[in-house]
Amino acid sequence: MFSTNRFFGLSFIAGLVASVNGDITASGTNFSLSGADVSYRFHVDPRSGDLISDHFGGPVDDFTDPATISNSGWSTGLDNVGTPGLTNIRREFPDVGRSDFRLPAIHISHADGDTVSAFTYQSHEIVQGKPALPGLPATFGNDGDVTTLVVTLYDNYSNVSAALSYSIFPEYNAIARSFQITNNGTNNISIERAASFSTDLPNLDLKMLELQGDWSHEANRVIRNVDFGETGFRSTEGYSSHVHNPFFVLHDPTTTETTGEAWGFNLVYTGSFAATAERFSHGFVRVLLGLNPLHASIPVGPGQTFQSPEAVAIYSSTGLGGMSRSFHDLYRNHLSRSNHTFETRPILLNSWEGLGFEINETSLENLANETAGLGIKLFVNDDGWFGQTPYARINDTAGLGDWTPNPDHFPNGLAPYTETVDSYAVANSSSDLAFGIWVEPEMVNPNSTLYHEHPDWVMYAGNHVRTLTRNQLVLNLALPEVQDYLINAISNVIKSANISYIKWDNNRAIHEMSSPAADYAYTLGMYRVMDNLTGSYPEILWEGCASGGGRFDPGILHYYPQSWTSDNTDAADRLTIQLGTSLAYPLSSMACHVSAVPNGLTGRNISIEYRAHVALMCGSFGFELNPSELSADERDAIPSIISTWEQINPIVISGSFYRIAWPSDTNWPAVQFVSKDENTAVVFAFQQFAKIKPAAPSLKMQGLDGKARYSSNAFNGTLSGNTLMNGGVNLPWMVRDYQSMLIWLYKE
Ligand SMILES: *[C@@H]1O[C@H](CO)[C@@H](O)[C@H](O)[C@H]1NC(C)=O
Ligand SMILES: *[C@@H]1O[C@H](CO)[C@@H](O)[C@H](O)[C@H]1NC(C)=O
Ligand SMILES: *[C@@H]1O[C@H](CO)[C@@H](O)[C@H](O)[C@H]1NC(C)=O
Ligand SMILES: *[C@@H]1O[C@H](CO)[C@@H](O)[C@H](O)[C@H]1NC(C)=O
Ligand SMILES: *[C@@H]1O[C@H](CO)[C@@H](O)[C@H](O)[C@H]1NC(C)=O
Ligand SMILES: *[C@@H]1O[C@H](CO)[C@@H](O)[C@H](O)[C@H]1NC(C)=O
Ligand SMILES: *[C@@H]1O[C@H](CO)[C@@H](O)[C@H](O)[C@H]1NC(C)=O
Ligand SMILES: *[C@@H]1O[C@H](CO)[C@@H](O)[C@H](O)[C@H]1NC(C)=O
Ligand SMILES: *[C@@H]1O[C@H](CO)[C@@H](O)[C@H](O)[C@H]1NC(C)=O
Ligand SMILES: *[C@@H]1O[C@H](CO)[C@@H](O)[C@H](O)[C@H]1NC(C)=O
Ligand SMILES: *[C@@H]1O[C@H](CO)[C@@H](O)[C@H](O)[C@H]1NC(C)=O
Ligand SMILES: *[C@@H]1O[C@H](CO)[C@@H](O)[C@H](O)[C@H]1NC(C)=O
Repeated sequence: MFSTNRFFGLSFIAGLVASVNGDITASGTNFSLSGADVSYRFHVDPRSGDLISDHFGGPVDDFTDPATISNSGWSTGLDNVGTPGLTNIRREFPDVGRSDFRLPAIHISHADGDTVSAFTYQSHEIVQGKPALPGLPATFGNDGDVTTLVVTLYDNYSNVSAALSYSIFPEYNAIARSFQITNNGTNNISIERAASFSTDLPNLDLKMLELQGDWSHEANRVIRNVDFGETGFRSTEGYSSHVHNPFFVLHDPTTTETTGEAWGFNLVYTGSFAATAERFSHGFVRVLLGLNPLHASIPVGPGQTFQSPEAVAIYSSTGLGGMSRSFHDLYRNHLSRSNHTFETRPILLNSWEGLGFEINETSLENLANETAGLGIKLFVNDDGWFGQTPYARINDTAGLGDWTPNPDHFPNGLAPYTETVDSYAVANSSSDLAFGIWVEPEMVNPNSTLYHEHPDWVMYAGNHVRTLTRNQLVLNLALPEVQDYLINAISNVIKSANISYIKWDNNRAIHEMSSPAADYAYTLGMYRVMDNLTGSYPEILWEGCASGGGRFDPGILHYYPQSWTSDNTDAADRLTIQLGTSLAYPLSSMACHVSAVPNGLTGRNISIEYRAHVALMCGSFGFELNPSELSADERDAIPSIISTWEQINPIVISGSFYRIAWPSDTNWPAVQFVSKDENTAVVFAFQQFAKIKPAAPSLKMQGLDGKARYSSNAFNGTLSGNTLMNGGVNLPWMVRDYQSMLIWLYKE
């Protein structure tokens, strides 16, 4: 049995004096984290030593009694504390085996075979700023930006400690959480479950919104009730995946884009994950976001520490729009560490649609020259440039892994070719064409020199078949020798030529693994490679890609300032995909291109203006087509598209984003950006289908200064911000499919 006084160690008594540090207060062991429009509160239960959730929501100033629930029944709480009628069963860090029947945040298997833990409060510390997470991507900030509370718990039965880290970014109503488990015992332990974020919300009526999808069908909003039992989803693909994003929102049923409460959760991690909301008999809702237990069982030896990934939670009282803008600003300022984060991105053309595998120096140089002639600033050499006979990358059956230029295509290496590309003057611009290249470093074709030399460098499970997808296997990036090979191979490519952009692709999921823990080890190894290469070559613009948006997650965003949003470039579908992705991720981090029509996937024939307007709302804009196949009308439209891009890109990169209307909710979807200085706004308005009747509703803008007056390309004279936001403007749509307009607003 517990004795009470073991929780009143020295640090507890010292803590009785309230300590305030920035935005975190500890009154004894009552902890309060406060932001502009958020309070997060929990405390140590003096009887059990357990951490009890008190509040996560709008600002509060006091600790209050928890909800009274009858203790008749099977689920009243921590019975072994010996306190009948205990109602404090909203827990911050639930473990296993102490009469809490819900899913745990931490589940540890011990050497003696049991999986019971009894973590109790030991000490706490408040620090300015935010310590880095060893080996993992995370939010960062200076002393004035963020404050961190570390609460240490100890399981005296197994000598395992848990250090829970809570960091608050008050400006964004954001709380970043992670924990470390240290094995202070003499036996091995194994982490079976680890939810980076865990809290118990009270009995609230909640909906769960998530982003569901597949290849070329990413980021679809799905909303369901948080009912009794588990509501959730996971990825077991080894990556964050197209199928579910490691992001969800819990919100009140009445919450809209502009009003109501919303809690957004996002895991800063690229491996398999699980997200769950569990409502138990008393109605309390447990929120869990962390590793997928199927890809856990992570061994921690004596003296070793396990570091969980970080999860970010943002509270909004201003609807989904307010939540998204907090995520966008937090991520641009405190997650994306690239020097390019706040820089406009070059307009680009990718060689794939034009040439496919039919490449050589001559064909590429001709395409690059044509690219420069169109006024495009960056030429990207896609797949097919590497490998050597008999494994030359002339189709997708060979070459991945052998990252040296194919001498049949580039007899003198990449340098002379890229110098030629760099020498082309970009039309209507003072700059020369820049050169970028495609790589898929985490993969290997069995038809490669690398695989023949190192068949044991791939992910495999004993004698099981090494299942191929797209003729390729996944390298085991957990192995330091594989990490070093990739760092050297990609560094050599970078050093061999003048490369200013790299598209880092990844085109299959992980199948056979040597152990459940292999995915976590792989992900850490991958981060080491990305950390090293982006650290060594910060001037390069790195873009993530995984068959489109298969790894559009905060982990990748930490290293790469942008990711390819989807292989589906049909403008009608893309609008849905981009708005879904924008729930969590800034538009500045999305790469979006104009492709040829009829669209290769959907057969849709959409005007070049509409295609361009859809792609121009993203940070990285470009073309994914063969210029020689452009119609005369399309070719004529390109100069004006490029000048629009020049005006819009700075607002997209650093402005605030508003979703005015979703394409699934209306025939007339619209989005809006407001520049950082609030002097300029631009609305992207769309009509999806020709309508005889009814009339389009007036388009009401958001985020303007109500009292200011605005001039526009869409009306004569000026209108007030209040008029634009509450009255709106009526746009002159014609009876035609797929029309679009850009409406500029300039504050007088
Ligand atoms: C902590 O909060 C409880 C109310 O939940 C209160 O009774 C107690 O006095 C507080 N302790 C300190 C040290 O502030
Ligand atoms: C931990 O438990 C051991 C017995 O397993 C006991 O001897 C020791 O005093 C306990 N330590 C604390 C700090 O309670
Ligand atoms: C935990 O540590 C204490 C003190 O070092 C030791 O006496 C005890 O045997 C350890 N228990 C386990 C399960 O390792
Ligand atoms: C962990 O063990 C070390 C000795 O190996 C000891 O100094 C330390 O106090 C222990 N930590 C805890 C939290 O008991
Ligand atoms: C812990 O696991 C490692 C690796 O499997 C093994 O070498 C070691 O003997 C184990 N230690 C104990 C104390 O069981
Ligand atoms: C280069 O490739 C093009 C096709 O893209 C082909 O027509 C041409 O003959 C090739 N030139 C050389 C030198 O291989
Ligand atoms: C590049 O294209 C222009 C036409 O846009 C042409 O006049 C010029 O000869 C081409 N240069 C090379 C080196 O092919
Ligand atoms: C595909 O590439 C391999 C390796 O370069 C080559 O041996 C094979 O002939 C190619 N297949 C076709 C159909 O071109
Ligand atoms: C290796 O390349 C040959 C020739 O292209 C092809 O027939 C074979 O399927 C490839 N093997 C694998 C495993 O992709
Ligand atoms: C990258 O790794 C190489 C080789 O291990 C090392 O020399 C270099 O210092 C690392 N660079 C960075 C920025 O981590
Ligand atoms: C990138 O930013 C870092 C500081 O974050 C700076 O030290 C470095 O010089 C910058 N590099 C480039 C190429 O701008
Ligand atoms: C502005 O007024 C002029 C002159 O009346 C008219 O021709 C034009 O269509 C108006 N423009 C807009 C955008 O309403």
